[in-house]
Amino acid sequence: MSALFTPLTLRGVTLPNRVALAPMCQYSAGPDGLPTDWHRVHLGSRAVGGAGLIITEATAVVPEGRISPQDTGLWSDAHVDAWRPITAFIAAQGSVPAVQLAHAGFKASTYRPWAEHRGGVPDADGGWTPVSPGAEPFLPDYRTPTALDEAGVAEVVEAFATAARRALAAGFAAVEIHAAHGYLLHEFLSPLTNHRTDGYGGDRAGRMRLTLEVARAVRAAVGEAVPVLTRISATDWVDGGWTVEDSVVLAGELAAAGVDLVDTSSGGAAARASVPIGPGYQVPLAARIRREAGVPTGAVGLIVEPEQAEQIVAAGEADLVLLGRELLRDPYWPHRAAAKLTQTPAWPNQYTRAF
Ligand SMILES: Cc1cc2nc3c(=O)[nH]c(=O)nc-3n(C[C@H](O)[C@H](O)[C@H](O)COP(=O)(O)O)c2cc1C
Repeated sequence: MSALFTPLTLRGVTLPNRVALAPMCQYSAGPDGLPTDWHRVHLGSRAVGGAGLIITEATAVVPEGRISPQDTGLWSDAHVDAWRPITAFIAAQGSVPAVQLAHAGFKASTYRPWAEHRGGVPDADGGWTPVSPGAEPFLPDYRTPTALDEAGVAEVVEAFATAARRALAAGFAAVEIHAAHGYLLHEFLSPLTNHRTDGYGGDRAGRMRLTLEVARAVRAAVGEAVPVLTRISATDWVDGGWTVEDSVVLAGELAAAGVDLVDTSSGGAAARASVPIGPGYQVPLAARIRREAGVPTGAVGLIVEPEQAEQIVAAGEADLVLLGRELLRDPYWPHRAAAKLTQTPAWPNQYTRAF
């Protein structure tokens, strides 16, 4: 028996196994954030490869919430139509399609990694003014954001809820809220980036308020049967920043708000963080949140070996294992891992003559 290849039921949805494609920006959207054939083939290939859960890249709930002008979005009915064939193909392979709903905050309007330029994209090159809890840029060469007022914060909550409704119309069976990596929700959570004096800043409860309002609004939008995951940065890895103790409290509150699983990442709010990168380096964070908050978790970060992934689930450190770069290198990792761990890989019929 393999723990990794045991189904996982979250509300009304059952994942066929505990291997997920981690959300990864492809910087390949068409105009206005529409997903393209790239997304259909890229995400579709990982479904053919056997990942039980396919999470899209950070998909913006409003145009100004895109990290780069080439990010996908879900802020109009045209996006619904463009995502629908992609989710249909993923579901037809037996995988569960999920969308990561995101707002990039002060990290919006940046060049994609392989562009000629770095940092903020100027208006003249298709960029825009980002928004954030304050008016300080993330880095000197990023765009200077406008601080959200309370009406602007309310619009963000509404935008997440509206995008969640559109996600269901587009055929997504689960939703992940992106509250990690120094993007908007994390910017409100972290004392390093939230210096507000209104009801969305100050103590931990004030800083958690926006993320919890988004979680409640998304839960209300999708109804009771649809799983809602939330990706958090469990620690800022900086003295005086957000801590794993804060994350245990947040995870409990997220669960009370209707979140089913905390996808446990870290970092991103401060460029000066010193991150102890190594195999499975974020797994202890997922394990601690799972143990102390009693909330299902996902583990991510330098998980590459089938036995390593198996052990994480078998030992009760996490309920789900997310793979990023390893699934870029090898879309068939889940079938190969199943061959090692269960001797009964479920290769698609079309590929059985290969074995
Ligand atoms: C090309 C690339 C794009 C990424 N984009 C996102 C994203 O859109 N949303 C997100 O939450 N994390 C993103 N990440 C982080 C991954 O989801 C993952 O957490 C990270 O790569 C660590 O896992 P790994 O070691 O298995 O790659 C990205 C990572 C890569 C390599």
